[in-house]
Amino acid sequence: MPDHEVLVLFGSQTGTAQDVAERLRREARRRRLSCRVQELDSYAVANLIREPLVIFVCATTGQGDPPDNMKNFWRFIFRKNLPATSLSQLDFAVLGLGDSSYTKFNFVAKKLHRRLLQLGGSALLPACLGDDQHELGPDAAIDPWLGALWEKVLGLYPVPLDLAAIPPEVPLPSTFALQLFQDAPSMALQELTASSLDSHQPPSESQPFLAPMVVNQRVTGPTHFQDVRLIEFDITGSSISFVAGDVVLIQPSNSAAHVQQFCQLLGLDPDQWFTLQPREPGVPSPSGLPQPCSVWYLVTQYLDIASVPRRSFFELLACLSPHELEREKLLELSSATGQEALCEYCSRPRRTILEVLCDFPHSAGAIPPDYLLDLIPRIRPRAFSIASSLLAHPNRLQILMAVVQYQTRLREPRRGLCSSWLASMDPGQAGSIRVPLWVRPGSLAFPKSPDTPVIMVGPGTGVAPFRAAIQERVAQGQTGNFLFFGCRWRDQDFYWEAEWQELEKKGCLVLVTAFSREQERKVYVQHRLQELGPLVWELLDHRGAHFYLAGNAKYMPADVTEALMSIFQEHGGLSSPDAAAYLARLQRTVRFQVETWA
Ligand code: 2AM
Repeated sequence: MPDHEVLVLFGSQTGTAQDVAERLRREARRRRLSCRVQELDSYAVANLIREPLVIFVCATTGQGDPPDNMKNFWRFIFRKNLPATSLSQLDFAVLGLGDSSYTKFNFVAKKLHRRLLQLGGSALLPACLGDDQHELGPDAAIDPWLGALWEKVLGLYPVPLDLAAIPPEVPLPSTFALQLFQDAPSMALQELTASSLDSHQPPSESQPFLAPMVVNQRVTGPTHFQDVRLIEFDITGSSISFVAGDVVLIQPSNSAAHVQQFCQLLGLDPDQWFTLQPREPGVPSPSGLPQPCSVWYLVTQYLDIASVPRRSFFELLACLSPHELEREKLLELSSATGQEALCEYCSRPRRTILEVLCDFPHSAGAIPPDYLLDLIPRIRPRAFSIASSLLAHPNRLQILMAVVQYQTRLREPRRGLCSSWLASMDPGQAGSIRVPLWVRPGSLAFPKSPDTPVIMVGPGTGVAPFRAAIQERVAQGQTGNFLFFGCRWRDQDFYWEAEWQELEKKGCLVLVTAFSREQERKVYVQHRLQELGPLVWELLDHRGAHFYLAGNAKYMPADVTEALMSIFQEHGGLSSPDAAAYLARLQRTVRFQVETWA
């Protein structure tokens, strides 16, 4: 390992932690520090005992779990037999990414920080707790933390005085060099992606299955405020398999209109092709980007031009801009004092990268293609709870998806990239676009025993994973299925009403509904739970039931949990601290499981 190298190890589920790790690399380079960035599970963890300085960037997922690409590291670092002085040579810092609407906020970062201390490591500073819920996103915590971090690192690794930091107005070299050429390679791109699919391997992020959509049906009434779709994919021949509780990841694309607009602004020819070369050794090629690749493919499938830009976007665009007025404005928005203005301009109204580029046309037109991958993040896959069981719908995978659309102060409504893209597809159309997808285990797992009852609380689209569970359990002859479902109106957003009724008739399901707006006072699932408190207590305490909660993360999970606590007190005769301990025990024994989304 080169002297004075900063090692950045990351664990990322949706890619944000990886983006932050890349940002650390850029910031280190500006300070003339050499820096290596690596995924935690691709790092030989036994080498940690020789590392002098490591910065860990870790996301927390679901119920406080580490991301998939750091699971091996996680198991290793918590081995009981590691001596307490294992890492006494190590200076470290932990940067966490989490969401404070989840109870175990930044659990992975906090736990890792404590564990590294336990193993003898020295913390350069307290763990950074980035929060998705903050108006400015995780950067609100990351920006000041990084400032302090570099001071500490430069204290340990002073750079020679004659090597001044690279000033912010000078662009760093791009990570990749792009070689553009005009003639399309003989093999068409579709063939390229199709031929790289190994049918023996289950599809994954690097090799998604291109699934035909066979159903795209609005399931909310015509007057309902929300457009919710039942979407079905044909997964025949994919070797995809899943059980109730698993999630499907879908890789969306930009719309043709946005791709065209972007190419025009930047003066890119979508029909051109390119190959990529990293400028430094050890930098991996971007995964999911075939080589050679067309500009059209890059902009359609890879560059997240519909996302809200981060501060680093403005920093780099300012460096690249030849236009004085625009550059000044960009510099202001990327400066420490310009963060309120940046929030007002971008984060609050959810202005997209494409819209920002339209506001800075001279800068957009001067972006060298080499910098596209540094400037614009990759389109991230979106996770959906799978709403069907293979036992009830063989070779099919269904999701229940709300089409995300809302208004900010900008005239054009904000639209979710993935849900608008899926909603716009016409499954009947011959040769319609196929959807890249793969599955992974979710955070909900259902009991195998035929006698264990399950209480499922899923208002709105939160019911999706429970539809899969009920189908699976009914097909396996498991009884004791209790579903609490809430929606606004019986005739507008009562998903799968007929199906539930059929199952109730057969004695396979107990359904309890809460129609929030059909009477003067709001009635929610937690009110129904409380009304049925004696039954809920009996199921949990005497019959070993498992309790599940899924849906919108805002207030519902806390409200339902509170209702449950009051049932423990009222019907179980527990004191308030005992009720809390009872709930904690249910959580520990995975009999209380939650899956929520923003
Ligand atoms: P509302 O929109 O009428 O307030 C699915 O979205 C259902 O969940 C709707 O009936 C919605 O009611 C309800 N809901 C909203 N907030 C809730 C909360 N804090 N707890 C439980 N249900 C809630």
